[in-house]
Order: sequence, then C-alpha cells, then structure tokens
Amino acid sequence: MAIVSSKITMAFNLFLVLSLVFTVSTAQRKLMNVDMNDGVPQVGMQCKSLYSVQDGDTCYDLVQTFHLTTSTFELFNQNLDCDNLFIGQWICLNNVTIY
Ligand SMILES: *[C@@H]1O[C@H](CO)[C@@H](O)[C@H](O)[C@H]1NC(C)=O
Repeated sequence: MAIVSSKITMAFNLFLVLSLVFTVSTAQRKLMNVDMNDGVPQVGMQCKSLYSVQDGDTCYDLVQTFHLTTSTFELFNQNLDCDNLFIGQWICLNNVTIY
C-alpha cells in the first residue's frame, strides 16, 4: 500500500514540475513578445523561432550560426543585452507577422 501511494505521489510531483516548466516557458515567450513590441508600432511582430543560449554563445556566434544579419538579429531581439547573455536566455531567430 505504502509503495503504491508513494508512486502516485511521485507521479503527481512530476506532473507539478512539468506544468511549472511549461508555465514558465509560456510566460517567457509572452514577456519576449511584449519586449519586442515595446513602444514600437510593430503590432504584428511575433517570434517564430526561439533559441536558448548555451554556455559560451555570443551574439556574433548566433548571427553566424543561424545565417542572420546583424540588423535582422537586432530587429528580432530589440532589448537584448549582448554583453550580458545568460545560459537559457531566449533568442529570437525568426519572426512572423500577425494581423
Ligand atoms: C520580420 O523580419 C523581416 C526581416 O527578416 C523584417 O523585414 C520585417 O519587418 C519583420 N516583421 C516585422 C513585423 O517586424
């Protein structure tokens, strides 16, 4: 009995952790879209493709790796501080226009 209930507790905890992770990443995406639209009349811009920063990445590396130009990179990531990238930070690699 005790074993069965601890398995249920473990499954439930896993569910809680997963839903927390999902909630956080959704919130992060929303935050990002708000940042990109901040004060600029780009009503319809939304990030289509996201990349999570890895150890040692620089903005320059990302521009090279994803075949972007500095100006599109800056357009997609308007409030990004390239001197202070952190692991797990979301970078926008492509946009879509929504109406
Ligand atoms: C999406 O990116 C392109 C450049 O790749 C840019 O010309 C266009 O303005 C962007 N769309 C919006 C809504 O900002």
